[in-house]
Amino acid sequence: MEKERKLIIAGNWKMHKTVAEAVDLVRGLKLELAGVKEADIVVCPPFTALCEVSKLLLDSNLRLGAQNMSEHPGGAYTGEIAAFMLKEFSVRYVILGHSERRAYHGETDALVARKALAAHAAALKPIVCVGETLEQRDRGETEAVLERQVRGSLAGLTREQMLETIIAYEPVWAIGTGRNATPDQAQEAQAFIRRLISQMYDESVARRVRIQYGGSVKPSNARELMSQPDVDGALVGGASLEVRSFVDIIKNAIAR
Ligand code: PGA
Repeated sequence: MEKERKLIIAGNWKMHKTVAEAVDLVRGLKLELAGVKEADIVVCPPFTALCEVSKLLLDSNLRLGAQNMSEHPGGAYTGEIAAFMLKEFSVRYVILGHSERRAYHGETDALVARKALAAHAAALKPIVCVGETLEQRDRGETEAVLERQVRGSLAGLTREQMLETIIAYEPVWAIGTGRNATPDQAQEAQAFIRRLISQMYDESVARRVRIQYGGSVKPSNARELMSQPDVDGALVGGASLEVRSFVDIIKNAIAR
């Protein structure tokens, strides 16, 4: 059955790539992905490469995302980046509440929700990440954790804002480990998240909101993962750092 939601595949480059390397990668992606319309394609370089990458994307079907931003609109916050600064480089998306931010920088659901509101205030589309750890899964707490994160990290978003928000289900145990969730595990968790959205908003919002899967997405598993009814794309880390693997993920995903 064809989904009514368009796939969205984003590359999260994390703390990798010099400006020169970023430019090389984006040049390669542009050549390979020109004309691809079946999926929204987003690259999320480090802040330092946004300026140069944004110039390359002016005449491209690829979109630009950032990996984080401040909850504050500006001011005396040393080391932080505000939404208006991202807008300068035509950034459209911003990853919020990635598990690495939650684990290493103490980001809470409440903070992620404030950032999501700040992103919407600047017309940036947040990609809000949620996902359980292995211990939580083994203790049978996956749904409880997801419910707390989804309700907490999306708190206060209007219906319209929710429709412009992407959720990324990223089980922590699958990130950077080479061990992806099985298509069934991803589907089960993402159907649960969609039911939550339906309870928080309504059926029509839940049907339209896009939910990505992230965690060791590779060319070899992209097609099967993205054939699941509630998997609407991918947030890709390691495999987004090279032209060949990111392009193959996208091509395999749209061939599903
Ligand atoms: P990975 O990372 O694809 O390297 O597992 C995914 C992510 O952290 O978004």
